[in-house]
Amino acid sequence: MTATPKITVDLLKTYDRPGPRYTSYPTAIEFSEAFGPDEYPARLAAADRAEGPLSLYAHLPFCEHRCTFCGCHVVITKDQEIVEKYLGFLHREIDLLASHLPNRRRVSQYHWGGGTPTHLTPAEMEALHKKMTEHFTLDPDAELAIEVDPRVTTVEQIELLRALGFNRISMGVQDFDPDVQAAVDRNQTEAQTRSLYDLARERGFASINLDLIYGLPLQTLPKFRRTVDVVIAMRPDRVALYSYAHVPWVRAQQKRIEQTDLPSPEDKIQLFLDARERFLAAGYVEIGIDHFALPGDELAEARANRRLHRNFMGYTVKVGSDMVAVGVSGIGDVRGAFAQNEKKLSRYYERLEAGRFPVERGYALDRDDLIRREAITRLMCNLWLDTVAVEREFGIVFAEYFAPELARLSAPDGPVAHGFVEVAPDHIEVVGLGRFFVRNVAMIFDRYLDRRITDKPIFSRTV
Ligand SMILES: C[S@@+](CC[C@H](N)C(=O)[O-])C[C@H]1O[C@@H](n2cnc3c(N)ncnc32)[C@H](O)[C@@H]1O
Ligand code: SF4
Repeated sequence: MTATPKITVDLLKTYDRPGPRYTSYPTAIEFSEAFGPDEYPARLAAADRAEGPLSLYAHLPFCEHRCTFCGCHVVITKDQEIVEKYLGFLHREIDLLASHLPNRRRVSQYHWGGGTPTHLTPAEMEALHKKMTEHFTLDPDAELAIEVDPRVTTVEQIELLRALGFNRISMGVQDFDPDVQAAVDRNQTEAQTRSLYDLARERGFASINLDLIYGLPLQTLPKFRRTVDVVIAMRPDRVALYSYAHVPWVRAQQKRIEQTDLPSPEDKIQLFLDARERFLAAGYVEIGIDHFALPGDELAEARANRRLHRNFMGYTVKVGSDMVAVGVSGIGDVRGAFAQNEKKLSRYYERLEAGRFPVERGYALDRDDLIRREAITRLMCNLWLDTVAVEREFGIVFAEYFAPELARLSAPDGPVAHGFVEVAPDHIEVVGLGRFFVRNVAMIFDRYLDRRITDKPIFSRTV
């Protein structure tokens, strides 16, 4: 069994600070209205002239009930009319998107996220998939993934998803402990999760993922250990072990969580380390900052070959060179620009009603952004940055271009001195305990961060 690493309080004092998770670089707070519905079509036109399959994301925001911890963009409703209206507009958006991509229709990565996509009825799910595939062609080996909530997902929906070709399923668990569940207003029995899991296995999903969160209120080591052991016994192909992002200034319902019920930073990292040790001992391979996969899983292989990617859909090996997104709050990444859709349903509808893309804001990356994005995403995914490859790709001398960043890495109290990072002539590697602080390492390469860290909270904490 691997020994649990020791992370001292002093280290936490240095490294536990607000910081991005880098699901994108630049992060979404840099997005602005300078990039909107007028700018997006030109990027799509450029994407249409390019080669290769796309990644295609659909955001389905509905849930029956709001979990107190939730940081996702959700709409709580039981009103079927609201859902139907949304789907009508979503279909319109898909038509509009496809009309701008007449020559680029292949898709290698297809993902329904939320919210809870299985809040839709089977008929609605089928109609949405039909609309998507009327325009877009899924590669024979494409990844078709969906996020589901075991509390609301039915046998009929699972059978339908398989019949439609979905091959990956991700289920929200978070924690099995009844006290923790009560503290976050999410009651979900082990039996509910287990029966959906068994059904998905039986019906032949190629990959099943379970989501856990550490750092939730009332979590303790022995309790969370139990949750982890139940998950390990189920043997999912992948596990996401997310750090609870406490951002009550963005998600008002999180204010209902008592600060005193939250584990301290020291306890929180112990929850992670202990769970990590159990997953590793059970044969899982660590993927990026917060995932585990069985050794045969393609993520584990990609990690070993340092070819792992991450986008808004999560870790993947099938990343398309452009990612298009439909639905409220969806974020596309097309030809060097991010485009985020309206987050409010009413504004999303208004834009589409006017025949325009419902893009609220976005960001066109400049050359420096592209270089830094490469450095940050490589470090975050593979804990390794091939600096020679960056030099080749962008025509820079790494040591000159990143001289201030290299100096910060090697400062007397910096990550190199802490034994977290090794800098070699041709690469940078995150080593030892550094993997737990890779967000902090990535932050050194972020051009925007200094002016974003103010008294006003923006990011969740890195621990
Ligand atoms: C869209 S939900 C998954 C599907 C479904 N809605 C459910 O909850 O079962 C995506 C995942 O995000 C994670 N999540 C949500 N809010 C979070 C937060 N504040 N911090 C960390 N992870 C969070 C949860 O693990 C959740 O399962
Ligand atoms: S965690 Fe899942 S079910 Fe709960 S509110 Fe968020 S998206 Fe909905």
